[in-house]
Amino acid sequence: MFYKPGSHRENGFKRDPFKAFISPRPIGWISTISSNGKNNLAPYSFFNAVCSDPPCVMFASGGSPDDRGKKDSQVNAETTGEFVCSIVSYQQREAMNQTSIHLPYGEDEMPKAGLEGEPSRLVKPLRVKGAPIHLECKYMQSVQMPCWREGKENWVIFGEVVGIHVDPKIVKDGFVDVTIYKPVSRLGYMEYSATDEVFQMDRPD
Ligand SMILES: Cc1cc2nc3c(=O)[nH]c(=O)nc-3n(C[C@H](O)[C@H](O)[C@H](O)COP(=O)(O)O)c2cc1C
Repeated sequence: MFYKPGSHRENGFKRDPFKAFISPRPIGWISTISSNGKNNLAPYSFFNAVCSDPPCVMFASGGSPDDRGKKDSQVNAETTGEFVCSIVSYQQREAMNQTSIHLPYGEDEMPKAGLEGEPSRLVKPLRVKGAPIHLECKYMQSVQMPCWREGKENWVIFGEVVGIHVDPKIVKDGFVDVTIYKPVSRLGYMEYSATDEVFQMDRPD
């Protein structure tokens, strides 16, 4: 089967399978703070590391569901220059999902999802308490992407990781053991996976 993006229905797909092809995708649980000090938290699965020296990450926003254009996380990262990525463990999967709720700008998703924040060291946004890893980030730049949906905007937001918190419980003999916290990732549709099995391969050279 071959099709061009946008014509999936003509090929028998009930929903666009694109995101199912690029899976699993890690989830960046992005916390930010507004310029007037209001906390914000939301999951982004268009999220990844883009380089490691220095460590940099990106998350991509598909635009606000209302007519404000950009989502709160992007607005806050751009205006304050900071964000934090918490990594989602299997244990916190439900709370993570709750924080995707669309609240009016300035309303905090954390307490609504039964979560608590704890202070970061080098940036102002709070970290999600109980998450196994937190990446404190300084905003670098946003890149606008094409967008087919009228009145909407697609953006990629880049940040440099300037501070890292790791729960000592997930470190075994000097290595991070993902099977202890089972990072949650997004598949296609409403499907998720959690990593609880790993295997190793050596590189040819
Ligand atoms: C697991 C998961 C992954 C998501 N990934 C994205 C994403 O990559 N980009 C995006 O724009 N929205 C994504 N969403 C939806 C946002 O979390 C949702 O629109 C949220 O309300 C945005 O919050 P904010 O306006 O406070 O930034 C995702 C939702 C879930 C549950």
